[in-house]
Amino acid sequence: MPASRRGSGAVTLPTGQTLAFHTRTQDEEDLPHATKKTMADHLRKYESLFTLTPQRMRMIVDAFKDTLEAGLEKHGNTVPMIPTYVFGWPTGNETGEYLAVDLGGTNLRVCLVTLQGAGKFEITQSKYRLTEEQKQEDGQKLFDFCAECLKTFIDQHVGEEPGMINLKPGAKLPLGFTFSYPCSQDRIDHGELIRWTKGFGNPNTEGHDVAEMFRKSLQKYDVPADFISLTCDTTGTLIASHYVNPKTKIGCIFGTGCNAAYMEKVVDIPKIKHLGIAQDAEVAINCEYGAFDSFEHEHLPRTKYDQVVDETSNKPGEQAYEKLISGRYLGEIMRLVICELIDEGVLFLGQETYKLEKAYAFDTAFLSLMESDPTDELLMIIGIFTHFFAVETTLAERQFFRALAKLIGRRAARLSACGIAAIVSKMGYLEEGCSVGADGSLYNKYPGFADRIHEGLVDVFGDKGRNIVTYHAEDGSGVGSAVIAAMTKDRKEKGLYVNV
Ligand code: GLC
Repeated sequence: MPASRRGSGAVTLPTGQTLAFHTRTQDEEDLPHATKKTMADHLRKYESLFTLTPQRMRMIVDAFKDTLEAGLEKHGNTVPMIPTYVFGWPTGNETGEYLAVDLGGTNLRVCLVTLQGAGKFEITQSKYRLTEEQKQEDGQKLFDFCAECLKTFIDQHVGEEPGMINLKPGAKLPLGFTFSYPCSQDRIDHGELIRWTKGFGNPNTEGHDVAEMFRKSLQKYDVPADFISLTCDTTGTLIASHYVNPKTKIGCIFGTGCNAAYMEKVVDIPKIKHLGIAQDAEVAINCEYGAFDSFEHEHLPRTKYDQVVDETSNKPGEQAYEKLISGRYLGEIMRLVICELIDEGVLFLGQETYKLEKAYAFDTAFLSLMESDPTDELLMIIGIFTHFFAVETTLAERQFFRALAKLIGRRAARLSACGIAAIVSKMGYLEEGCSVGADGSLYNKYPGFADRIHEGLVDVFGDKGRNIVTYHAEDGSGVGSAVIAAMTKDRKEKGLYVNV
C-alpha cells in the first residue's frame, strides 16, 4: 500500500514486522483505536486496583482510629492532632465586624464578615488565584502578598453603606487568619508551620511562626487590622457549621487537600495535661489527618500510580492519605493511567500525545465533567480530549475514561468516609448520630461525592452508618474564622485567654 501524507495504514517490512503509520488529522474511523473489548479488559484490571471492599475499609478505620488516639498522647506524631486553642462551641450570638484572610491551597481570599447573631451573617469578599510561582517564593513574600491584597480590599471597601467597612481614623478591625497547613500552636495567635502541604514549598517558613510573619507584613503595608487568631479551614468549618447547625460535631474539607477537625475533651488529650487547662473544658482538634499512613504506607491501598504521584511530588512520603483523595492529585492519577495505556500502545496510536504527557496537565475538574456528561455520545469527553489534548477518541474509549474517572472518584470518596468513620468511632457518635459539615471543591462540585461518602459510611458501620450525615458546610474560612476571632476576643475580655 503506498504511503500517503494523510491517513493511516500499514506496511509489511522485509523482516515480517508490520509498521503502522498514522496522522492525527484523520477521522476517527481511520485511526487504529482500541476495540471495545480491549477497553473492557483494561477496565476490569483497573476495577480491581481501585475498588475498596467494605472489609478493607473497616481495617483502615481501625488503624486510623489508633492513629488519632496516638496523636493525642504525645507531640510530634505524623498525624499531629493539633489542639487549636478554640475552646468550646460558639453560642450563635457572636456579633461584630471582622476581617478574614484565607490562604487556602488554590486561592487567597480576603473577606469582611458581619456577624449579626442568631447564626446570621453577611460577607463581602475578593478572591485571588495563587500562581505556582507564588507557592515556591520566599515565605515572607507570600505573606506580603496577603497583606497587600488585604490593604487594597480595605481601601476599596471603607465607607458608610451596608457591606462597607466602617472605620474611624486610627481604628483597627479584628482579623482572623485562616492558614490551612499544619501548624503547632502554643496559643491562638501563634502557629509554627510543621510542614507545607498541597504542593507549597516556600522557603524560610517551615519551623517559623507564620502568625508573626504575617503580622510583620501587615505592619509593612500599614494595614489597619488587629491580628486575633490563626486557624485552619477545618476548624473554621467546624465552628461556622455549628454556628448555624448545632448538631454539627465534625468539620471536614475535601478540596485541594483533605482534613478534619472535631471537638475533644481536654481530659482526653494527655499531651496537654501539663498546661493546667480546666479538665472539663473542650478544645477543637485540627487532626491534619491527610498525613495518615505517611512514610510507612502500611494501611492504605496504594497503586503504582499513587506511588508515582508521591515520588514525583515535592514532599515524597508525606500526606499519604491526602494524595489518594484530594483534588490536587486525582487528575494526575487518571493521567498516569492514560499514559500507561499510551505507552502500551493501547490508546491514541498514531496521534501526538505530548500534551497528555505533561505532569499535572489533567485537571481533577475533568473527572467531574466526564462523570457528569449527560450525552449518549459523551460529547463533553470529546471536547476535553480534542480541546485540551488535541487527540481523537472513540465512543468505547470515552466510555472507558468515564468509567475510570468513576473508579478514581469513588475510591476517593470511600477513603474520605474512612477518616470520618474513625472520628465517629473514636468519639462514640454512631448511636446518637451527628452532622458533619463538609466543604471543598470535591465535596461541592464532584458529582455524587457526598452520596458515595454516605454509602461508604454504611459499608463501614452497617445501617447505623445512616446516622452520620454530611452536609455542605458554612464558609469556614470566612465566617468560621470571624466567629473564632469573636470567641477569642470575648475570652480575652473575660481574662480566659490561654497563653502558654
Ligand atoms: C491540607 C492541610 C490542612 C488543610 C487541608 C484542607 O491537608 O495540611 O491544614 O486543612 O489541606 O485544605
